[in-house]
Amino acid sequence: MDAPKYRSLLMRIIYVTLQAIAIAAVVYGGYRFYLLNSTYDVLEKSNANLQYEFAILNDKLKASTALNDDLKTLLLARQQEKDAMGEQVQSLSTTVQTLDKLANTDKELLEKYSSVYFLNENYVPKDLTPIDAAYQNRPEKPELIIAGVLPHLTQLLRAATAANMPLQVLSGYRSYGQQSALKSKYSITYGSGTANAFSADQGYSEHQLGTTVDFTTPAIGASLAGLDKTAEYAWLAAHAHEYGFSLSYPRNNAHFVFEPWHWRYVGRELAKKLHDENKALYDLDQRDINTYLLKFFD
Ligand code: DAL
Repeated sequence: MDAPKYRSLLMRIIYVTLQAIAIAAVVYGGYRFYLLNSTYDVLEKSNANLQYEFAILNDKLKASTALNDDLKTLLLARQQEKDAMGEQVQSLSTTVQTLDKLANTDKELLEKYSSVYFLNENYVPKDLTPIDAAYQNRPEKPELIIAGVLPHLTQLLRAATAANMPLQVLSGYRSYGQQSALKSKYSITYGSGTANAFSADQGYSEHQLGTTVDFTTPAIGASLAGLDKTAEYAWLAAHAHEYGFSLSYPRNNAHFVFEPWHWRYVGRELAKKLHDENKALYDLDQRDINTYLLKFFD
């Protein structure tokens, strides 16, 4: 083959080869484009699904938050109802305790007697208890007082002893019958006019309550004469109210002569009021006195 023919053949081969390469490149490019397009579609669908699911989850979250808020409000309301109920129960319980305390406190203990009010002849106070013989002027004759008053009386006697004021109890509870016998004896000895000035008729004596004592000292003894001049009386006048005791018959009272020995337990709160206002029980209105019954033994 001559050279021109050979060159022409070579050129044709090169041309055909280049055409084949170009066609192959176009086909491959188209195939790759198809693949990319398909992947894009898949991703686009997937994205749409994710957005849809996100929207659903978001709605659920909003609904849950709203439900949570409702539950919180409900819980708060229930808590407030529970607190209110608790306060009501507490208040009812306090009322029941108060009523119970009042029901168990003998209202006779703060009544006025001394010719004002008659105490039933069958009246005997509950829980009469002996006073410590060490504090009695006549230990051979046991004196009684009601159990609720005994700790207050004992504290008074201990405090007086500690202050070097040897107070003693001469007389405590007296029954209706004992008061009757005593009054008869005094009436025979002194005449009824004199006896009436310092001794109550049976049924009118505070001694029948079991809350009242006559104090004396070892030096004064059973006569009681001159007790008002002693340091022990001055101590009683200054301190007896701290233990719930009040002088029933001060100077110039409407019922009996001045009786510096005769002290009635009326409860610490009322005794303090009487002391601070320089009054006796009989100076107060019975309705005012009754308001102190609840704290009588406190
Ligand atoms: N000495 C007082 C008044 C009484 O007998 O109760």
